[in-house]
Amino acid sequence: MRDKIVAGNWKMNKNLEEALQLVNELKVANVDLTPKIIVIPSFPFINSIVNTLENSPIKVGAQNCSTQDSGAYTGEVSASMLKSVGAQYVVVGHSERRSYFNEQNEGLAEKVNQCLSNGLTPIYCCGELLEERESNNHFKIVESQINEGLFNLSESKMIDTVIAYEPVWAIGTGVTASPDQAQEMHAFIRALIAQKYNQQVADSISILYGGSCNPKNAKELFSLPDVDGGLIGGASLKSVDFMAIANSF
Ligand code: G3P
Repeated sequence: MRDKIVAGNWKMNKNLEEALQLVNELKVANVDLTPKIIVIPSFPFINSIVNTLENSPIKVGAQNCSTQDSGAYTGEVSASMLKSVGAQYVVVGHSERRSYFNEQNEGLAEKVNQCLSNGLTPIYCCGELLEERESNNHFKIVESQINEGLFNLSESKMIDTVIAYEPVWAIGTGVTASPDQAQEMHAFIRALIAQKYNQQVADSISILYGGSCNPKNAKELFSLPDVDGGLIGGASLKSVDFMAIANSF
């Protein structure tokens, strides 16, 4: 009913040659057609990767975009620029951007709007810090991230979003959320959407899990009723691992 998705967030890794090598390996790999597969390289490589993936079902995304349309914003990259080079998805509000670049929910809502008004699908990230979970504030934090980042959207725009739940304590740590923890939060997010919009909208939005997802744990995570795939960091940098994850449905 809703898309199964496996997206590889390469973060600030690889040079052009390495990036093209990885996509060429993915292109010829034996792909299960169940999930949509997305690669998310750094800005300079997007266009070459889009061209390399012509005639492949693999899609390309970006890791960020500007809150602004165009103009005097040195160093920024707009959603329309990303659209023009063939990107189809944009990661918005990754925890690394929230923590290192002080991105706040309000500005992220503007980025989500930029994506949607330029025909790009935002992959909106949410997730709590370890201390927030330990102090039992994880639901409250995720609720405010979803509420302030997404819930100004109309129903028709909301349906065009993807959400990624990435508990910060699981990112790059080798500590994965347990199946119970992942399912509990994904179901919570879906219930928030049902409450704000309706059940049909909630049931149509893909909610991905991110945080130390690897070929060993992907199958169990992806079998959970409210987990619709993964946003993969480290394990997306090697074609064999990424494809093993993509084949885990
Ligand atoms: O966006 C993906 C990410 O933050 C998860 O990273 O390396 O734990 O899979 P990793």
